[in-house]
Amino acid sequence: MKSFLILTTLLVIPFVNSQSIIGGSPAYQGKFPYHADVGISENGVSTWCSGGGVLVSLQWVLTSSSCLYGIWSGQKKVIIILGSTTRDEQPETLKFEISPNSTNIIFNTASPDAKDDLVLIQLPKQTSFTTNVQQVSLPRTKGIYGILFNERAYVTGWKNESTTNSSLTFFEINTIKNTNCVEEYDPERRDIIAPKNICAKLEMDTAQECFGGVGAPLVSLPYNILIGITSTLSLKNCDRPGSPVVFLRITDYLDWIKATAFA
Ligand SMILES: *[C@@H]1O[C@H](CO)[C@@H](O)[C@H](O)[C@H]1NC(C)=O
Ligand SMILES: *[C@@H]1O[C@H](CO)[C@@H](O)[C@H](O)[C@H]1NC(C)=O
Ligand SMILES: *[C@@H]1O[C@H](CO)[C@@H](O)[C@H](O)[C@H]1NC(C)=O
Repeated sequence: MKSFLILTTLLVIPFVNSQSIIGGSPAYQGKFPYHADVGISENGVSTWCSGGGVLVSLQWVLTSSSCLYGIWSGQKKVIIILGSTTRDEQPETLKFEISPNSTNIIFNTASPDAKDDLVLIQLPKQTSFTTNVQQVSLPRTKGIYGILFNERAYVTGWKNESTTNSSLTFFEINTIKNTNCVEEYDPERRDIIAPKNICAKLEMDTAQECFGGVGAPLVSLPYNILIGITSTLSLKNCDRPGSPVVFLRITDYLDWIKATAFA
């Protein structure tokens, strides 16, 4: 019985597959203080989101709704870890366990479009900002972020997200024009990439490097501002070398984020 319990606590089910992020560089603690680890736990079994999420205010984390798939069934809890680059607790790591309800889990229902796959998660209490835990900056207005391309940015996600020795990994990535993204993502299905998407390419877009993590923040390198969150369209990135990484463009969701996370 005892060994059974230990096994079930260690058992971790992969979110999509164990190779959703290949390549990149290891992040040290404090380099991406806005990055959040997002998981679901039920009966001691945890499922982790490959991309993660992002702390947008003192009490709210933004991620892809697919990271909370099935959240209303069973006895699930949402797990948020802030300030960590591994799943092991590090000094100054903050860990929250949230019982989901209609006031602390807010899906973006502004549009019935399944491609608007965002959710905001309220922490049980306000965090305290430290060197390792900080909110990301959001664009103040749509401004240039509505059309941005050829912009250097960071994308961060979990390598080996399904194991206990997952590690926070970052890539430098360049945003591209949507017209190029349409061609490179799937020329047969030109309707997939919408203006509310922003696409980017890894420097080395070969099988040696890929980014297929959902919920991952895209942060402009020169401006240090959140510009995107990986959408489920990027799930298959590692199966399709050279395909752009597709994000939801933050400026298209700014009103909803501000009304919810800064209310
Ligand atoms: C939801 O949970 C939060 C704690 O995370 C609590 O403060 C709030 O009252 C709950 N809301 C409902 C509708 O139960
Ligand atoms: C990730 O998993 C692969 C095997 O799937 C392993 O070779 C690699 O060492 C792991 N990386 C880390 C940082 O644990
Ligand atoms: C953790 O990573 C090491 C190499 O860094 C690897 O040997 C080991 O198998 C990994 N453990 C798990 C559970 O993936």
